[in-house]
Amino acid sequence: MTVDTLDIRHYAHEDLASIRQILLDVHDDAYADAMDDPFNQRFAWFVDHWGGNPGFSCMLGYDGDEPVGYAYGAPAAPGREWWREHLDPAPEKARTFAVSELMVRPKWRKTGVSHRLHRALLDSRDEDLAVLIVDVNLPKVQALYESWGYRPVGRRQPFPDSPLFNVMLAELPLAG
Ligand SMILES: CC(C)(COP(=O)(O)OP(=O)(O)OC[C@H]1O[C@@H](n2cnc3c(N)ncnc32)[C@H](O)[C@@H]1OP(=O)(O)O)[C@@H](O)C(=O)NCCC(=O)NCCS
Repeated sequence: MTVDTLDIRHYAHEDLASIRQILLDVHDDAYADAMDDPFNQRFAWFVDHWGGNPGFSCMLGYDGDEPVGYAYGAPAAPGREWWREHLDPAPEKARTFAVSELMVRPKWRKTGVSHRLHRALLDSRDEDLAVLIVDVNLPKVQALYESWGYRPVGRRQPFPDSPLFNVMLAELPLAG
């Protein structure tokens, strides 16, 4: 597969039942070396939580019949965006899309697939901002996101057993 032959399919809240197992299987492969982490073991709960949001939007990448990775998220609730406590004053245009997950199975990494999936997801949106969080212990992943237009604005730990994350914000439409 080259990045040009990647087939990206869009799914919404109504489609969750038909893609749920695919999302779980891709996750288990993408996080295979970190599945002893109880936080990663709870991933099905997060899929149901995000997929249950009526604004859920998912771009799923296929190499032929093989699902290789995905990007998904949903509009952030106004006033409760992840960046809110870090930016004062808030940006004038503040409608925000929260990117909850981006992952690519190991065999398909370093091919540009992650960039294509992320870009497809955000090019389909009309919000002013995109926000995501990245584990503070993954500076290379953070650098990747910075190359796509994000900047760090603060830190958060959403759950007591979750990693500490940097909150990353980008203006839409993305330039890079
Ligand atoms: C994040 C991701 C989508 C990026 O895919 P990609 O664009 O193909 O880029 P790479 O996989 O080459 O990752 C970029 C760099 O980050 C590093 N990296 C990625 N995930 C990492 C992880 N979980 N732990 C440590 N380093 C990681 C890679 O080794 C690479 O560094 P290198 O260039 O020195 O080899 C993919 O690495 C992935 O699915 N990772 C697992 C899920 C994950 O950790 N997501 C981030 C959650 S905040």
